[in-house]
Amino acid sequence: MAFDVETVRKDFPILSREVHGVPLVYLDSANSAQKPQVVIDAEADLYANHYANVARAVHTLGSEVTHAYEGARDKVAAFLNAPSRDEIIFTRNITEALNLLAYSLSNASTTIGADRFRIGPGDEIVVTEMEHHSNIVPWQLLAQRTGATFRWIPIDDEGRLVESAIDEVINERTKVVSFVYQSNALGTINPVRRIVERARAVGAISIVDAAQAAPHLPLDVQDLGADFVAFTGHKLYGPTGVGVLWGRYDLLAQLPPFLGGGEMIETVDMSGSTFAAPPHRFEAGTPMIAQAVALGTAVDYVTAIGMHEIREHEKALTAYALDGLQSIDGLRIIGPATPVDRGATISFTLPGIHPHDVAQLLDEEGIAVRAGHHCARPVCVRYGIPATTRASFGVYTTTDEIDALVRGVDKVKEMFTR
Ligand SMILES: Cc1ncc(COP(=O)(O)O)c(C=O)c1O
Repeated sequence: MAFDVETVRKDFPILSREVHGVPLVYLDSANSAQKPQVVIDAEADLYANHYANVARAVHTLGSEVTHAYEGARDKVAAFLNAPSRDEIIFTRNITEALNLLAYSLSNASTTIGADRFRIGPGDEIVVTEMEHHSNIVPWQLLAQRTGATFRWIPIDDEGRLVESAIDEVINERTKVVSFVYQSNALGTINPVRRIVERARAVGAISIVDAAQAAPHLPLDVQDLGADFVAFTGHKLYGPTGVGVLWGRYDLLAQLPPFLGGGEMIETVDMSGSTFAAPPHRFEAGTPMIAQAVALGTAVDYVTAIGMHEIREHEKALTAYALDGLQSIDGLRIIGPATPVDRGATISFTLPGIHPHDVAQLLDEEGIAVRAGHHCARPVCVRYGIPATTRASFGVYTTTDEIDALVRGVDKVKEMFTR
């Protein structure tokens, strides 16, 4: 079926509400996406009709809920084109997925048989200058714990990685390269395969933060070639409280656990414990059952629309918005100013007007955008600005909403220059 944004919008109950007496224009999907009714229903249905704990009970509800939870794992595996369902680990969000890796990697230093992952003084951990804090801080902490050096690939004036720095920063000393697919602050889409190939050539582990990619473009982990890919459910029209870490099975099988507890063990003795195979080794305790099941529904939802269709819709919106916003005198786009290799997230500044004021005045027009450093403070430091205003689009965004944004920003500017 052809993509029809008005049909899509009917699936999202919140989009029919008003804010300050005017229709809501929700342009903050990069922060968190709204939920279609099917996702809301999936979570409620699980609690209303099937709820029990997973993997523990032999009774009917226990078996139904385990089936639903493991079914969500199958759906996510298919969504990512993962070779095996056992490569899908449910986490609380992508922040936890990245921390899981960082802690498992440092635990590897004291685990027999995990030499491949040993990190210590002289080794290097690489990120980029455009990372979300959740892909900076865990690696800085890993560097502190292990004595390794933390490095980054810089960004240029347009908001792209400095291509010529990639081969220098990723070198024979590099153990880990963790980088964002699509920047939440700039909208930039990075050359994932190019970076993954370089990481592989030097024997480093590659990790892709796909938080802003999973909702917006087709993701195929086999095609990307990375070792690990993570995303977060709430940005993919799914519930809060659930994220995903995909990892190549041979690597997961060698990695020691992050958290210890129930369900992640093989046997437990007072003299010591052994651990379950992946993915359960990395899912200690009662998981986020209803959220994972509803994430499976969200995956079904976007798959039925088509990730290619979503990408094309959002590409057109991005081009339209870049044109509209740049027609405002003095407005500066922070990030790529053309629609090439960029996603539907646009950060901007207005001379002499604080981004928070812009966002607050837009809210009075019913327009929800985000202002701040977007948990990517080094980006603001790079461009010498305290913050940006950010408009971000999703499957339900319309050109009328972008017109409202452009009118709203124009009005804010007029108010401040009066
Ligand atoms: C690129 C990127 N990575 C990681 C995160 C962290 O997501 P969460 O807070 O769901 O863990 C975000 C959230 O904004 C993001 O945009």
